[in-house]
Amino acid sequence: MGGAMVNSPNIQIQPATVAINDKGHLVIGGADVVDLAEQFGTPLWLLDEATIRQATEACIAGLANYPNAKVLYAGKAFCCLAICHLMRQLGLGMDVVSAGELHTAISASFPAENIYFHGNNKSEEEIISALTYGDVKIVVDSKSELEMVARLAEAFGRKAKILLRITPEVAPDTHHHIMTGHTESKFGIHLSELSAVCAIAYAQSHVVELLGLHSHIGSQAQELEPYMQIVEIMAECYADIKRTFDSDLEELDLGGGLGIAYTRDDHPIPIFEWAESIANQVITSFGNRDLKLPRLLLEPGRALVGTAGITVYRAGHIKRNPQGTTFVAVDGGMADNPRPAMYEAKYSACVANRVKGPQSAEPTTIVGKYCESGDIIVKDTNLVARTGDLIATFATGAYNYSMASNYNRTGRPACVLVNEGKAELIIDREPIADLLRYDRVPARLLGKET
Ligand SMILES: Cc1ncc(COP(=O)(O)O)c(C=O)c1O
Repeated sequence: MGGAMVNSPNIQIQPATVAINDKGHLVIGGADVVDLAEQFGTPLWLLDEATIRQATEACIAGLANYPNAKVLYAGKAFCCLAICHLMRQLGLGMDVVSAGELHTAISASFPAENIYFHGNNKSEEEIISALTYGDVKIVVDSKSELEMVARLAEAFGRKAKILLRITPEVAPDTHHHIMTGHTESKFGIHLSELSAVCAIAYAQSHVVELLGLHSHIGSQAQELEPYMQIVEIMAECYADIKRTFDSDLEELDLGGGLGIAYTRDDHPIPIFEWAESIANQVITSFGNRDLKLPRLLLEPGRALVGTAGITVYRAGHIKRNPQGTTFVAVDGGMADNPRPAMYEAKYSACVANRVKGPQSAEPTTIVGKYCESGDIIVKDTNLVARTGDLIATFATGAYNYSMASNYNRTGRPACVLVNEGKAELIIDREPIADLLRYDRVPARLLGKET
């Protein structure tokens, strides 16, 4: 299939269904954002189902010429029951990194064998749940974790199906906090130790089945080159393993990390092209070494859900500093989107109730309501906003809900899935009463001391 025929929504800042109606309001998924804000309140996360479907279908289409491939959804990007059900229906497996994500995937009826359990410090309880659910694949991050998995599998009388995560020493062009494949990364087994760790796995083959290797080079990658390099490195590792252990590994998991467009400065690879190029490179690199083609796994998260999401805020107080910047404070901020404060992530925004409104010659900065100076949502826009306006931030579908907190004792926003004019609540707004749910007060502080 030609890439030009497949829509890759990760390269567009706004959801695929974005429109402006005759009232000048922002519309996504056929629903008027102003009406949704009235109905569900603000701040509000909206997810456009059509964008998620298109991104997922483009990724699957990119792998169509590879004989045996599967896309896993990296749940860390946005993990809730409705999204997991949708991803399962679309034919994906799932990448999880905690007992909570694993429980969500199982609750959304993912077959255990389509779940890959990552993480650099899984607890014994987490490994035990993976073994208990069945053939969840455990992506082992270190020699000591391998020993722990083997011990627990033996104790449970089960054979653990594992992949080994390697540190490939390939770094994408991204913020250093979201690089994971470079030498100093906390993740994975260094290439120089791989053979020794494989030897342990093969020696434990009565309790551990080594299926393949995994790598994930980092996130928000904009270039193909690091992926091409990683495939070559992996092919070399598979050839070494075949030579040393006379074993053809069955699976190859190349992680996720594909970037999305947050602003006009971002130029990520279209997801179709990303998947297709990786698949072609695997065919070439493995073919050149006469290796059997492994089952190919890709694990995108951000690129499947990122540009499907928008966050809708209500503008409150507005002030202007002596340098000429106007600050528009909204009713959310770093508790629903910590990424700007964490790693200076940039976003794009519009006034949802007046999309084609006037533009300001002087900078307008959209700030949150939290007690941190770094709580800035979008810096130096040219929006003209008034108190009561709705500000929509684009490309907030990934790593917003999943990284949200209760900072300043605030409940997390609601999330609504929109599709063909229908709006369905998929996550309730967290009520303030719930924030007290796990608080315990020693009797002496209640004046009940005897
Ligand atoms: C092992 C692994 N796979 C997949 C992903 C998904 O990355 P992204 O959402 O950037 O595609 C991550 C992100 O941290 C990861 O650690």
